[in-house]
Amino acid sequence: MKITHISAECYPIAKVGGLADVVGALPKYQQNKNNVAQVIMPFYNNKFTNEHDFESLYESELKLDIISYNYRVLTLKENILDFDVFFIDVPDLLFKDYVYSFDDTNRFLAFQIATLDWMLTWKTKPSIIHCHDHHTSLIPFMLQESFKYESLNKIPVILTIHNAQYQGWFSHEKANLIPEFNPINFGLLDWNYQINSLAAAIKCAWAVTTVSPSYMEELKENANGLESLLSHESAKCHGILNGIDSEVWNPQTDEFIIKNYNNRTIKSGREANKKWLCETFNLDESKPLFAFIGRLVHEKGTDLLPEVLEKALANKEISVLVLGSGSEETQIQLKQLIAKHENYYYAFIGYDEKLSHIIYAGADFLLMPSRVEPCGLNQMYALRYGTIPIVRNIGGLKDTIVDIENDGFGFIHEDVEVNQILHAISRATSFYSNKTKFNKTRKEIMEIDHSWYVSANEYNNLYQSLLKK
Ligand code: ADP
Ligand code: GLC
Repeated sequence: MKITHISAECYPIAKVGGLADVVGALPKYQQNKNNVAQVIMPFYNNKFTNEHDFESLYESELKLDIISYNYRVLTLKENILDFDVFFIDVPDLLFKDYVYSFDDTNRFLAFQIATLDWMLTWKTKPSIIHCHDHHTSLIPFMLQESFKYESLNKIPVILTIHNAQYQGWFSHEKANLIPEFNPINFGLLDWNYQINSLAAAIKCAWAVTTVSPSYMEELKENANGLESLLSHESAKCHGILNGIDSEVWNPQTDEFIIKNYNNRTIKSGREANKKWLCETFNLDESKPLFAFIGRLVHEKGTDLLPEVLEKALANKEISVLVLGSGSEETQIQLKQLIAKHENYYYAFIGYDEKLSHIIYAGADFLLMPSRVEPCGLNQMYALRYGTIPIVRNIGGLKDTIVDIENDGFGFIHEDVEVNQILHAISRATSFYSNKTKFNKTRKEIMEIDHSWYVSANEYNNLYQSLLKK
């Protein structure tokens, strides 16, 4: 089977969030003697592309309505990844120092059209086309409806929704940008009087998956306007929990962290990482260290963090380290707390892959007060490194974390509400003082297996069922 993933992000090439981690890992676990998995993604102007050499496989021209753009398909000269990645280079639109911007319609349409135009020239077509999120969501529609792609329309195409909040909306006037189709089927593109890329894929893909079973259920109630569509299409919808790349996220071999460790050497290993964090960010090492890593957006509940942390830090019982970027207002508020809580608190505003690994290896607890969390990878990385998660009972967090009170290994709060988060922090602080239990739990969580093997198999079964159709 030849599995072709199409995505805007892929670790380590371009990462904004968990989508990159998933697309950078799943193909690895899908490659075996029967399967080859590959990724097609845009060619951005970033550190990875500047530091590596590429060769051109194909050159052509694509059309967005009446405007033509030259594009090339590139591949890495040296095969440094575990699977093939093909890059769509549309210099005028995609070769930017960012992945997303405020108006991405033309950028990602060009990406999708170039991908399918190129695929038309392949001798061996994919067995499965696997699209990720709204940036690739017009592909199922184009495969089914655009005349020029008719020869590809027997290939099963699946959509994975990593986040239904963002849907790739644009106005009806821009329909001409899509390669010609029978206007009678225009309705497939529309949702609430707009073209809605994600909705079009939910209607046209052969199967739709989301990244955890609970999120799949939640989407039927809360999907930023797509609830009824998802309920209507529920027969072809599946919730498959993400895995983690247990090679990249392995405290025993992780090159980013200060000291490597396994579950026998966890104590000294984690101490060294915590010490480094506390020295670097001026935090009291004797206190339990709580951390947050992530995008500072409403969905992640981070607008409440300043108030929560202000209150939690009041009696100097804990230390806190925040790593993230996003909302300007939250960034400012989080920065302002530094001066007030010197020696107990620091906020690193920005994106830093290395630092994130050290935090997973050195913090005692990881906060995830998400309002929406389709899967969440941070809590699984935390477990693998022996950091105890404190999470809201939602989406993938609900599917991966069990509360200490129920014989579990984490702290759960029901709602995204200041007092509930504070209560969870206070339960965790008491738990920290019971060193025997605390150390035992840390060791145990490192052994929980969230590697991709199980989920890769579920995708495999889904692909097989589609191939039989
Ligand atoms: P989402 O994709 O919604 O942002 P996930 O939990 O799926 O959430 O994945 C987030 C990924 O991005 C994790 O690998 C996390 O470590 C990483 N990450 C998020 N923010 C930062 C940051 N500021 N610096 C480094 N890594 C970050
Ligand atoms: C999205 C979700 C996150 C999920 C990730 C990877 O960004 O917000 O919960 O883990 O995709 O699927």
